[in-house]
Amino acid sequence: MTLSAHGVDRLLAGHLWVYRSDVADASGAEPGAIVGLYDRRRRFWGQALYSSTSQIALRLLTRDNRPLDRQFLAERIAAAAAYRDQIARGSEAYRLVAAEGDGLPSLIVDRYGDCLVVQTLSQGMDRLKPAIVDILQERFSPRAIVERNDVAVRALEELPEQKGVLAGEAVSEVVVDEHGVRIAYDVLNGQKTGGFLDQRENRCAARDYGRGQVLDCFTYTGGFALNLAARAESVLAIDTSADALRLARRNQELNGWSNIEWREANCFDFLKAADHDAQRYDTVVLDPPPFARQKSNLASALRGYKELNLRALKILNPGGFLITCSCSFHVGESDFLGAVASAALDAHRAVQVVERRTQARDHVILLTVPETHYLKCLILRVV
Ligand SMILES: C[S@@+](CC[C@H](N)C(=O)[O-])C[C@H]1O[C@@H](n2cnc3c(N)ncnc32)[C@H](O)[C@@H]1O
Repeated sequence: MTLSAHGVDRLLAGHLWVYRSDVADASGAEPGAIVGLYDRRRRFWGQALYSSTSQIALRLLTRDNRPLDRQFLAERIAAAAAYRDQIARGSEAYRLVAAEGDGLPSLIVDRYGDCLVVQTLSQGMDRLKPAIVDILQERFSPRAIVERNDVAVRALEELPEQKGVLAGEAVSEVVVDEHGVRIAYDVLNGQKTGGFLDQRENRCAARDYGRGQVLDCFTYTGGFALNLAARAESVLAIDTSADALRLARRNQELNGWSNIEWREANCFDFLKAADHDAQRYDTVVLDPPPFARQKSNLASALRGYKELNLRALKILNPGGFLITCSCSFHVGESDFLGAVASAALDAHRAVQVVERRTQARDHVILLTVPETHYLKCLILRVV
């Protein structure tokens, strides 16, 4: 596989992806193969997974020429697991392997208690799936390994969408202890691989700010609501997904809280009405789905964030907290801060920045791969 000078420059800049336009010659490479990378002068630059269809033609696995065999995969998975032992203690659910962040591009492995959920999101990683499942079984002896490859991004690789149990028992609902809160996740049918594990640490951080009347917008299965309920007088938690709310009610039972009300509604409509009716809250959480899936959506995404945050700021009591999130990669932290600042100005509210947070540490961010940093979570206080 021969790279253009620009392709080599990307690797030298610490990135792991080479785009199709930076591949000078791919002749003879099979879809999903592991290929050696060379420049036009036949200098070696590393080994990568090759995709014959995606704009991301190459995903770097290593900058050396070691054999990329089962042992290599097992070592990378072991290193990822050792890091989680350090930083995810106290939770039975976390991201065990975070793709590029753990040197295994396009591989996600999430742990939910004694079940593992796998996504292989490129042709190359999909070919390695049998070896990965084998390693996971040998190392972790899970009750089940579930495949959640029912994601649209696989179309870019001309891979089919599929899900199911790859090994072990037939499972769907798994109950885990997440830092003292019991949460049931549906690993077979839930959103993402069952839940939004990237918010795990933010949900814990939010506990400090739950008081009085709490509003949890885009609650899913109650992640923030369940963490805030202990100190709040009451929590109103809203989502459009009836399936998610069914599990949320079950989570409430598992934890014995009686002060949470679940409501199936559109949060944009709810916030507009709450503002109009002059309802007041002491803590508001905003954790919407990504508004900018493509760069071209940036302007409309920023308008969406501004509107949501404007409404939320207007219904907060003085001294109240706003926990506001964006999981759109294309909306950078400064863009997001700008949208929220603009909302604060329009709402005529002075706002203190209490915490500037990001995704949980198991969702590894690589300094030289900006795409690995996508989640922003601001904790703000309205004065
Ligand atoms: C990022 S997830 C929230 C994750 C959750 N905060 C947690 O910690 O588990 C976004 C949620 O928004 C819901 N949703 C999407 N559009 C919505 C809307 N307009 N109004 C209410 N909920 C919506 C989805 O069903 C999904 O559960």
